[in-house]
Amino acid sequence: MTEAKAIKTPTLPDAQTVTEVKHYTDRLFSFRCTRPASLRFRSGEFVMIGLMGEPDPKSGKQKPLLRAYSIASPSWDEELEFYSIKVQDGPLTSRLQHIKAGDEIILRPKPVGTLVHDALLPGKRIWFFATGTGFAPFASLLREPQTYTDYEEVIITHTCREVGELAYGAEIIENLKTDELLNEVIGEGFWKKIKYYPTTTREESPKMGRITDLMRTGVAFKDLGVEPICPERDRAMICGNLAFNLELKEMLEEFGLEEGANSEPKTYVVEKAFLD
Ligand code: A2P
Repeated sequence: MTEAKAIKTPTLPDAQTVTEVKHYTDRLFSFRCTRPASLRFRSGEFVMIGLMGEPDPKSGKQKPLLRAYSIASPSWDEELEFYSIKVQDGPLTSRLQHIKAGDEIILRPKPVGTLVHDALLPGKRIWFFATGTGFAPFASLLREPQTYTDYEEVIITHTCREVGELAYGAEIIENLKTDELLNEVIGEGFWKKIKYYPTTTREESPKMGRITDLMRTGVAFKDLGVEPICPERDRAMICGNLAFNLELKEMLEEFGLEEGANSEPKTYVVEKAFLD
């Protein structure tokens, strides 16, 4: 359910006002907030966000409680969007999950990260590999015009435990078809460049299994109707849990891809989905 927008003047330093909150499952939600006028970032980067901590029992002083969050909105959006897990005993997300439109969050306006187009050499096809909330940077990159000007084909894979956890990503992808900016800048039908491959591991769905296993057996390539990954054509970005990142890194290197960075662009990049 989407909550109504209500913008108040922020009172905390580095504070931004929440404009919208959307709950997807009992473990996942997204929210939007105002964007500092001075904040410039590249689609795919992350920032530190959070809330004021509880007052120290002795001094009564409060310190901000911050965590790294990928910005899920694209660089051109006038607001910022984030996609978060809810951890019942997590220091931040146990509280963050209760935010409402009009509340304040703290945002340190220093964007960083490696899941950026600048960290990859030119290629024909880009793969975005996500698990769970690791979809967030790709929610930004999928709404970024450069993704479609740089690549002929865009493949997004999303592996989650349960079907409900795919909803945020599925919604972002569905909404791309009517995205005014992308249709205008890239041209109508740009979304035909996208191949979306959602899979679940612990609940029945049309495609079951871990993406790593589905690639190892060749099933994923067959389903997608594409040739296996090769360093001449393919570029990749990885964002998921640690075990997934490590396993996929190894697989991509077997295919001949090499890890890049902002300072040295190569053929794939990786970032951990930050969990509470
Ligand atoms: P699985 O259910 O088989 O563990 P989590 O919620 O734990 O972060 O996991 C998100 C998704 O990532 C789950 O579907 C999980 O599958 C999958 N996953 C976990 N580890 C790996 C891995 N090493 N390779 C591929 N997928 C993984």
